[in-house]
Amino acid sequence: MADFDLIVKDGTVVTASDTYAGDIGVRDGRIAALADDLVPARAETVIDASGKLVLPGGIEAHCHIDEPSFGGAVLADDFASGSVAAACGGTTTFIPFANQVPGQSLRQAVDDYHAKARGKSLIDYSFHMIVSDPNEQVLGQELPGLLHDGYTSFKVFMTYDDFCLDDGEILSVLATAKRHDGFVMVHAENDHCIRWLAEQLERAGRTEPASFAIAHGPAVEREATHRAISLAEIVDTPVFIVHVSSAQAMEQIAWAQARGLPVYAETCPQYLFLSADDFKREGWEGAKYLCAPPPRDPENPEQLWRGLKNGTFQLISSDHCPYRMDGPGGRIESAGELHFHKVSPGVPGIELRLPLMFSEGVNKGRLDLNRFVALTATDAAKLYGLYPQKGTIAVGSDADIVLWDPDRRVTVRHAMLHDGADYTPYEDFDLKGWPVLTLSRGEIVWRDGTVHGEPGRGRFLKRGVSSAIRSNAAQST
Ligand code: URP
Ligand code: ZN
Ligand code: ZN
Repeated sequence: MADFDLIVKDGTVVTASDTYAGDIGVRDGRIAALADDLVPARAETVIDASGKLVLPGGIEAHCHIDEPSFGGAVLADDFASGSVAAACGGTTTFIPFANQVPGQSLRQAVDDYHAKARGKSLIDYSFHMIVSDPNEQVLGQELPGLLHDGYTSFKVFMTYDDFCLDDGEILSVLATAKRHDGFVMVHAENDHCIRWLAEQLERAGRTEPASFAIAHGPAVEREATHRAISLAEIVDTPVFIVHVSSAQAMEQIAWAQARGLPVYAETCPQYLFLSADDFKREGWEGAKYLCAPPPRDPENPEQLWRGLKNGTFQLISSDHCPYRMDGPGGRIESAGELHFHKVSPGVPGIELRLPLMFSEGVNKGRLDLNRFVALTATDAAKLYGLYPQKGTIAVGSDADIVLWDPDRRVTVRHAMLHDGADYTPYEDFDLKGWPVLTLSRGEIVWRDGTVHGEPGRGRFLKRGVSSAIRSNAAQST
């Protein structure tokens, strides 16, 4: 019998800390050996990785799959299409949200998402919860129970009709998280300000997509970010600010971190590669770019790149929220009219997250390779309790591996992507660097343009306590 099921041979292995020439031996879905030179005869299959980078599979820690809509349109991906799109883009684990619709128990929401994912997902997955109704039952029993059962992170919103929590509710939720080692993610935008600004714009007849960027302006995000940080400081627990779009919000995070507060954050490709000017495109074209918070002015991205490089941001996530523009359940039908607050917000991006960041980050010298791996995989595994099973290349870790061609040039066309949306905001982008093969627990799920593996082979991942919670506890003892 061969020692290994598979050897990945002659590649350049990259982790968050090291880059070296070496071979990887895989047995039973896990990395069993790392060595200078493994003899090919010791394996049943040998994958030639010469000229390729060998990276840990990406971890997509912020994406919306088969969720009820944010505003009327139907999300275009279920766990089958969403997981295929992820795998084709070099992602091997994703963590969508299990969304508590108002009036629903949190446990029921989680059970519903298990049913949605079962038999469909190509890659491994877990769920963050969304807590929209922090009643006594939820805070006293359901949330603690679920946190102990391995759903160790959840999101709360400071805006959106059906989800918005007030400061008192957020304090209670943070206190529950603190008691039970939960990690809280916050959507930070000031709901009152958005409503007030939107009303002014509507009165002035300014209902075009470009008004979205005014109603959701940088001060709206900056204020809420500062408030979320303060609420977490009051409770004395870590907090994670999701989808940070503006340099002003980033400055609040850097300010908190400089004071020693356990504040963590992500930004997203749409804030690096799109701008509020995209909303000004003709008619419904402009609506394709709507997401909350919105992309900012064209000078904003350079500052966010600095935050990615210097560690203010720990993660780059896609916030994949795919809609079709056309057809039943599409954005045009559900909005009824082109009005900045009637169009469901969100942009697709799960498949292009790594290619965009590699091309514009690594290949343009803004990020080194190890930082790229940390931002796209390793730090997500650590922050969301999956490390070292996921997020790295080490003996004992799952063999979730991507072979990356650093020189392959690709012009993005929506037709080549695998998600359910009917457009990509990155159409015609010229990228350099592309994933050519994706292994999930040692099985090929994507190779040279072809998807392999059965839907449903992906496994649910029970997660451990966030590294943020662990290091905060260690510092307070
Ligand atoms: O516009 C966005 N971001 N849609 C998805 C929902 C959310 O707030 O993450
Ligand atoms: Zn959000
Ligand atoms: Zn989101």
